[in-house]
Amino acid sequence: MRVIAIDGPAASGKSSTAAAVARRLGWAHLDSGALYRALTLAALDHLEPPAGGADAPWSAAQVLGLAEDLPVRLVLAADVFRPEVAGVGVEDAIRSERVTRRVSALAAIPALRHWVNVQQREAALGHPQGVVVDGRDIGTVVFPDAPVKVFLTASPEERARRRLAQRGGAAGTEAREVAIDPAELRRETTALAARDHADATRPVAPLRAAADAVLLDTTRLSLDEQVARVVALARERFPG
Ligand code: DC
Repeated sequence: MRVIAIDGPAASGKSSTAAAVARRLGWAHLDSGALYRALTLAALDHLEPPAGGADAPWSAAQVLGLAEDLPVRLVLAADVFRPEVAGVGVEDAIRSERVTRRVSALAAIPALRHWVNVQQREAALGHPQGVVVDGRDIGTVVFPDAPVKVFLTASPEERARRRLAQRGGAAGTEAREVAIDPAELRRETTALAARDHADATRPVAPLRAAADAVLLDTTRLSLDEQVARVVALARERFPG
């Protein structure tokens, strides 16, 4: 199985690391969070607000029906699996605040996790080179036999700093080089901690490192350093 699984909490650098590792190896990149986000976007745009108020969960059957009808899917282009809703690329729309606010609740529904996992396995197993997949449960649930598993961590404050720098800084700027308002940093740290808590304490596929994952604390690493560590692991396990 040619899969590299990269898991970790929100804003730990999983997707940027996975994308760069995939480019270095000539493999494809699949961001599993993008599928949960695309489902959430589809539900927000196409379903009536759930019975029980705007914060109540939608029914799994409704969301699944919608995912098949629209459809919601991943499309491979230039070695990146990109999310589409009804044939339209939604890479930017899925990063909006209204999606971020609702996605953890939707990702806690077992039938939707099953659907997302099927999409991921079909995508990954059909790719000739190999796929770098990032998420929360890739090494534990989706690809428990992945030959390379990495669990990225970073302090909550560093992750909040990176998230804010991403929003405010120029492309390619390292997080530590962008000036950040301390009050905003505190707010973002609290919001990230709440999402981590929701993802780590849900009964289905909670966020945790697989027993055989390599733990990588990136608090003091640059993106290039993180990528180099994962590429070195991949070259050990997939020689040639
Ligand atoms: O990595 P992200 O912020 O784009 O993920 C969005 C949400 O999807 C996150 O709150 C948790 C959920 N998720 C998940 O439960 N399992 C995954 N493999 C990937 C994401």
